[in-house]
This record gives sequence, C-alpha cells and structure tokens, in this order.
Amino acid sequence: MTTRIGVYPGSFDPLTLGHLDIVRRGARFVDRLVIGVTSNPSKEPMFTVAERLEMVRRETADLGNVSVVEFDSLLMDFAEREGATLILRGLRAVADFEYEYQMAGMNQQLNDRIETVFLMADVSLQPIASRLVKEIARYGGAIDKFVTPAVAADVAAKLVR
Ligand code: PNS
Repeated sequence: MTTRIGVYPGSFDPLTLGHLDIVRRGARFVDRLVIGVTSNPSKEPMFTVAERLEMVRRETADLGNVSVVEFDSLLMDFAEREGATLILRGLRAVADFEYEYQMAGMNQQLNDRIETVFLMADVSLQPIASRLVKEIARYGGAIDKFVTPAVAADVAAKLVR
C-alpha cells in the first residue's frame, strides 16, 4: 500500500488555534503530514523561522504522524521532495478564496500530480488570522481565545523587548 503524504504549508507567524485545528483534521486523512514552515514569508515576520519551527513542533508534539520542516523554495518543489500528493490549506472566508484560488491554480500549472485540498477549521475558529492576532496583541488586547497559552507567552515575550 502506498503511503499518503500531505504538506500543510504556511508562515505560522504565529501558529493559531485555527492552524492547529487544520493540522488535526488533516492528520486524520493522510498517513504522514509534513508542516512546511516557509523561511521566506511575504510579510515582515514577528518570529524568526527557527522560532516558528520550534513553536509548531512544540504545539504538534502529541501528533505521531506530523513532522515540521522549513522550506525556502517553490511550494510544489518542496512537496515533490517530501513525496507528497496533497497540499492542505485552510479556507476561512470568501476573503481567502481569491488568494487561495489563484495559488492553487498556479500550483496546479506547476505540478499537476499534487492536488490542493481545502479544509475548513471548526466554525468557532473561522475568523482567526495571525495578522490580527499580532495586531490585537500589539494594542494590549487578549489573544488567549486565538492561540495556545504557550504561543500567547511567545507573542508577549516579543512585545516586551
Ligand atoms: O501562511 P501563508 O503566509 O498564507 O502561506 C503562504 C505560502 C507559504 C503557502 C505561500 O507563500 C507559498 O507557497 N510560498 C512558497 C513559494 C511559492 O511556491 N510561491 C508560488 C505560489 S503560487
């Protein structure tokens, strides 16, 4: 039997409860889920790639079939190297659709052997976005409904520096 490998790529700056929900859901329907943390996010990150890797590893340590890998290449090249047949992406609202549709379409043109699959996080976690978590935290708001206690502490530590 072939092993079904999925890649869940992202910036994870920081990892949210929405991301974790997608990881848990995704890990159920693949044999191995590789979380790809991009070392080259389009926006200026709050956390270095080493910090984001450590954060994602720590928060997914209880999931036996999940591993966390840094990548700095085209996503489709990374997925091919990992032997993946699936790319997982979380889809939140209509606002996400345009961007995700474009990426999935262009990635399909780059490599038609790897399929992009969209998952929906739990409805209660739908609105969470890393960008807004950082904004709320910068203005002193509580982020404990959006991230784990350890990630909330990581964000707080960045802001006191
Ligand atoms: O969490 P994000 O920031 O929405 O994730 C975006 C990510 C990492 C999936 C995307 O930027 C990406 O795939 N980067 C790798 C470079 C690449 O393949 N670009 C072409 C996409 S069509």
